[in-house]
Amino acid sequence: MRCGILKRMATDVLIIGSGGREHALAWKLKQSPRVGKLYVAPGNGGTGMLAENVDISVMEFEKLARFAEEKRIGLTVVGPDDPLVGGIVDVFKSHGLRIWGPSKEAAQIEGSKAFSKQLMQEAKIPTAEFALFSEPHTALAHVRTHGFPIVIKASGLALGKGVYICRSFEEAEHAITEIMIEKIHKDAGNEVVIEEYLDGPEISIHALTDGITHVLFPSSQDHKRALDGDEGKNTGGMGAIAPVPWVTSQVMTGIDSAVVIPTFEALKKRSIQFQGLLYPGLKVTLDGLKVLEYNARFGDPECQVYMRLLKTDLLDLLDACVDSTVDVVKKSVEWHRGFAANIVLASGGYPDAYQKGFPITGIEEAEKVEGVVVFHAGTILRGSTLYTNGGRVLGVSAVGGTLKQALDRAYEAVGKIHFEGMHFRRDIGAKSLS
Ligand SMILES: Nc1ncnc2c1ncn2[C@@H]1O[C@H](COP(=O)(O)OP(=O)(O)O)[C@@H](O)[C@H]1O
Ligand SMILES: [Mg+2]
Repeated sequence: MRCGILKRMATDVLIIGSGGREHALAWKLKQSPRVGKLYVAPGNGGTGMLAENVDISVMEFEKLARFAEEKRIGLTVVGPDDPLVGGIVDVFKSHGLRIWGPSKEAAQIEGSKAFSKQLMQEAKIPTAEFALFSEPHTALAHVRTHGFPIVIKASGLALGKGVYICRSFEEAEHAITEIMIEKIHKDAGNEVVIEEYLDGPEISIHALTDGITHVLFPSSQDHKRALDGDEGKNTGGMGAIAPVPWVTSQVMTGIDSAVVIPTFEALKKRSIQFQGLLYPGLKVTLDGLKVLEYNARFGDPECQVYMRLLKTDLLDLLDACVDSTVDVVKKSVEWHRGFAANIVLASGGYPDAYQKGFPITGIEEAEKVEGVVVFHAGTILRGSTLYTNGGRVLGVSAVGGTLKQALDRAYEAVGKIHFEGMHFRRDIGAKSLS
């Protein structure tokens, strides 16, 4: 009887996305006694093992909403940026469906760098000096009056490939041509942000909010470049740690008051209610902390380390955002002691062209290492064999009492996994160890 009541009270959840972030969210939600059936659309080889994958793409909003109606989904959780910026939350709400994530209007903070830079300027939030252009010749004229390096960014979403760090006039000209004339990032390049180059380590800040109150997560750090020593191209992220040992609680308080609070205030001033997760990316420069950009969702791989450290029931937190009760749960958010690390295993060639379809072995062995959980990103299960199916294939995560222990465990587990062409960074978290 009691069991029957619990079952009826359970919330069936639909997660939108197919990366390591979504596998980590599914892994954590699966532990909630309040979660009933769990679906992931479209999901990957890993989510298929603990939830039901649904073959609908993240941009098919009406189809997803119909699925949520049919299955009486109690909460839909949006992982990636594209559907958020495209307005999936508004579509679900127009169907009367409960959904976690910012509206199209609020997601502009990620979807338009022009919007976010203006917002920061207005709110006096520290960020790189910048100018905005919608014409290539005025952009080029601006570059002529500045020194190098200089940073040129497509304003819109460009799959993480719209940022050019230019060390010469020729490189800047090439960037402007690609973005504004050849339009290789399509409409994302209608406007460009040209900004000052900032030097220093990067950190990721995550604030969960209902638009009224927010909860600050511990600091984390992604590693954006493809190769050791921060060499090579920018990627979606090659590995993460949390918390960042040198980011003290005073620093976090400073970030809250100089960045997070003013950002939410500035949004409110524009009558924009942001519900979901705000993730400002920061650079720690000699001149102080500066915001590089905002994301309107969890970072990936950051989400993977957060889910390993979060003690509180994730459904409670997501529900609080949707129900505007973050003030009630704020005090009770708990984290496991210690550290989490994550190493991304990528396909050979990533972030450029790569091949897919190679069999993956060793995950079971890897997960026998203490503290290790392997999250899937670009994987697909065919029969009983797992194959590579994307650029970032797996995220090998580990927790430990110290950052070093978490990293050692993660790398030990990495050593047990194999697929053709596999590449990963060997220096995740290394700079934070010294
Ligand atoms: N002004 C800057 N100075 C130095 N590096 C930058 C600057 N802006 C961006 N970058 C680098 O480029 C990466 C991507 O830039 P970002 O603005 O976060 O764009 P997106 O994540 O949308 O591609 C950053 O993580 C950072 O490493
Ligand atoms: Mg970024």
